[in-house]
Amino acid sequence: MSCLRCHQIGRAGGKVGPNLTTIGASKTRRYLLESICLPNAEVAKGFETAVILTVDGNTVSGIVKAENDDSIDLIKADASIVRLKLDDIEARRTGKSSMPEDLVTKLTPRQLRDLVAYLFSLKTDPRAADEVE
Ligand code: HEC
Repeated sequence: MSCLRCHQIGRAGGKVGPNLTTIGASKTRRYLLESICLPNAEVAKGFETAVILTVDGNTVSGIVKAENDDSIDLIKADASIVRLKLDDIEARRTGKSSMPEDLVTKLTPRQLRDLVAYLFSLKTDPRAADEVE
């Protein structure tokens, strides 16, 4: 599975999605299951996306990383960041989750159950534990 392409667990993984190192400490099994099966039901805070139409007719979509009075920074699916000037934006709407919707179709029910159990077991950051010892 390509979860690590977008998610960090411990030291490994990408930064497009939320860090999952201690995801089991703060979420329920139900929430985790839903995040995988219905990514749009509840988009993690700070990972809202936008779809933007520019004045020259291009569409750009991504996670809203930063925004101020004259520009907006989007993180695209390939993890690159684009900055758009508000003056260059024709229209904007809220986008879907960047978490792929079809992940669940690639898993057997058993794999899905194991995956949720695994995520739920991620309660403490192993690096933090090392520091305590
Ligand atoms: C293309 C990038 C991408 C891939 C691949 C991906 N995710 Fe995600 N995931 C995201 C993004 C972006 C979010 C935040 C938006 C949201 O909540 O839907 C997210 C959210 C989540 C959340 C909720 C986290 C929270 O803090 O609420 C969980 C759990 C999760 N993903 C698990 C997985 C698992 C398990 C896999 C592999 C089967 C996976 N993801 C694959 C991008 C991805």
